Amino acid sequence: METLTGMERTHNCGDLRKSDEGSSVQLAGWVSRRRDHGGLIFVDMRDRSGIVQIVFDGSTEGLDFGKAETLRNEFVIGVRGKVRARSEDTINPKMATGEIEVVVEELRILNKAKTPPFYIQDGVDVDEMVRLRYRYLDLRRPEMQQNIILRHRVTKIMRDYLDANGFLEIETPMLCRSTPEGARDFLVPSRLNPGQFYALPQSPQIFKQLLMVSGFEKYFQIVRCFRDEDLRADRQPEFTQLDIETSFLNQDAIIKIMEGLVKKIFESTMDVKIETPFLRMSWDEAMTRYGSDKPDLRFGMELQDISEYVKGSDFKVFASVLDKGGQVKVIRVDDYANIPRRELDNLVEYVKTYGAKGLAWIQYTEEGVKSPFKKFYSDETFEQIKQATGCKTGDLLLVVGDKASVVAQALGELRLEMARRRNLIDPDKLCFLWVVDFPMFEYVEEEKRYKAMHHPFTAPREEDIEYLLTDPARVKANAYDIVLNGVEVGGGSLRIYRSDLQEKVFEAIGLTHEQAHAKFGFLMDAFEYGTPPHGGIAFGLDRLIMLMAKRKSIRDVIAFPKTQSAIDPMSQAPGEVDEKQLRELSIRTAVKKK
Ligand code: AMO
Ligand code: AMP
Repeated sequence: METLTGMERTHNCGDLRKSDEGSSVQLAGWVSRRRDHGGLIFVDMRDRSGIVQIVFDGSTEGLDFGKAETLRNEFVIGVRGKVRARSEDTINPKMATGEIEVVVEELRILNKAKTPPFYIQDGVDVDEMVRLRYRYLDLRRPEMQQNIILRHRVTKIMRDYLDANGFLEIETPMLCRSTPEGARDFLVPSRLNPGQFYALPQSPQIFKQLLMVSGFEKYFQIVRCFRDEDLRADRQPEFTQLDIETSFLNQDAIIKIMEGLVKKIFESTMDVKIETPFLRMSWDEAMTRYGSDKPDLRFGMELQDISEYVKGSDFKVFASVLDKGGQVKVIRVDDYANIPRRELDNLVEYVKTYGAKGLAWIQYTEEGVKSPFKKFYSDETFEQIKQATGCKTGDLLLVVGDKASVVAQALGELRLEMARRRNLIDPDKLCFLWVVDFPMFEYVEEEKRYKAMHHPFTAPREEDIEYLLTDPARVKANAYDIVLNGVEVGGGSLRIYRSDLQEKVFEAIGLTHEQAHAKFGFLMDAFEYGTPPHGGIAFGLDRLIMLMAKRKSIRDVIAFPKTQSAIDPMSQAPGEVDEKQLRELSIRTAVKKK
């Protein structure tokens, strides 16, 4: 096999331009595609910077043309040659290097390659399992390289921006006691302390608060977090946060710094202008208008309440919902009164997966109103509803009646689904939103207790503190989420910094004094030694990059992600371990070996 010795690279493939015409260049990279025209071979040569066409001409003096004929896709080569302008009719305007080509004078084959399991090019239609099994090849595809390069650029900008704003990057431990972020922990057995386990951090929450107690005032970390949750397209068992904490700043000040950061990131990496401040909306308003705490504001189709028009009728479905304090709400789908019956049936099934018992509709067609509950209401009522919801003839209302939480969930999801089906979402729009004034607690039906909606270190709103133990449901928190195009890309809060208030919040979520101290005694102790008011936020880095790269899954912006079932098909993690390893850890599994 040959080496690059004496033919060291002078240029990157993707950088060559018309202005390089006549230069002698030495390139190194991969064979992306070859076309053999007998005495003439064209090769698309690829390196990280891009692709350039190189030409092997049988008549070139000193060129080993026979060697060129052995080239196959993904061979690693070095070439020396001259840049020449392409003739007018062979210019390729779709390629950055499309105006030139390199006529090869010397070829070295640095390594051969087996035929890859899929083409190394953009837009290949390959099963994701195969891509993950051969991730090193998948990552060789230009679009994947761009995603990973974007990720690098974004974290670089984050570090620069935060450094310029007085933040310090500080590392926190990976082997911890569990932090209660609400998900299941990944556990690591301790060999030196048999029977005891570390937890991998779900986030550095407690450590970053302790760094504020220590007086660092402004901290950040680009940090891996681990959560053993059920996975989805935007969830991985290990993911990365840009984690931030500050002292002495109020919510507005924190939000302002973060808006500056987001603006900087988007404007320096994409061709966009980002207007700040971002829109803010209370959690209550988001749930009422969009049925979601992370509304996608790229389109309208808001939820509207028609309870007052449909109450007091013989239609049992709505009567019983309203009797029980529920609501009847609609979304309006413009120009879709003639929706096929089959699709309506399909939508009924769709809302049922989100907990609704059923779905009704009103079709305002040219031939009049069509609705499963038409016979229960007067024409006038349907006219009133039409006015109130801004319907015109030709529009469709989709109706769900239930308790507020179910209506929100079902209609909120239906709103997204209808927007997708009706093509209402502009993929180039960027709609940022702060959702603020979150409830402090949510009630967990199965456990018959309240749990913290964000986390139990979040400060309740000053004016609600008196209701912590008497009426937890009405307590709002100083918590805020940042939402982009319907994806929660970050969340944070002001924190509790007094131990008496912290105790009260633990009590409200059903932790006894003893349990609270056993778990978080060190934090409560720390609060006794002069803790500044503090607050922060964490961005989901993977989700942010996913949206910037316009991908549907965070797996596409993580170099080596896991599948939905939390495995790595390439390295075959997780795997079994030796008996000996288990013995050292004083561990026995209950799973029988196959
Ligand atoms: P939170 O739990 O809201 O807050 O997490 C912050 C952000 O992290 C991202 N994220 C995830 N991304 C990929 N896969 C996952 N499994 C996953 N889980 C969360 C989301 C989310 O908005 N310590 C607090 C922050 C704070 O209060 O400062 C925290 O972790 O984008
Ligand atoms: P039923 O009386 O269950 O046959 O329902 C009559 C109509 O009301 C059907 O079109 C149902 O799909 C619809 N419906 C049932 N439950 C609900 C609900 N919770 N919200 C809206 N419509 C419903």
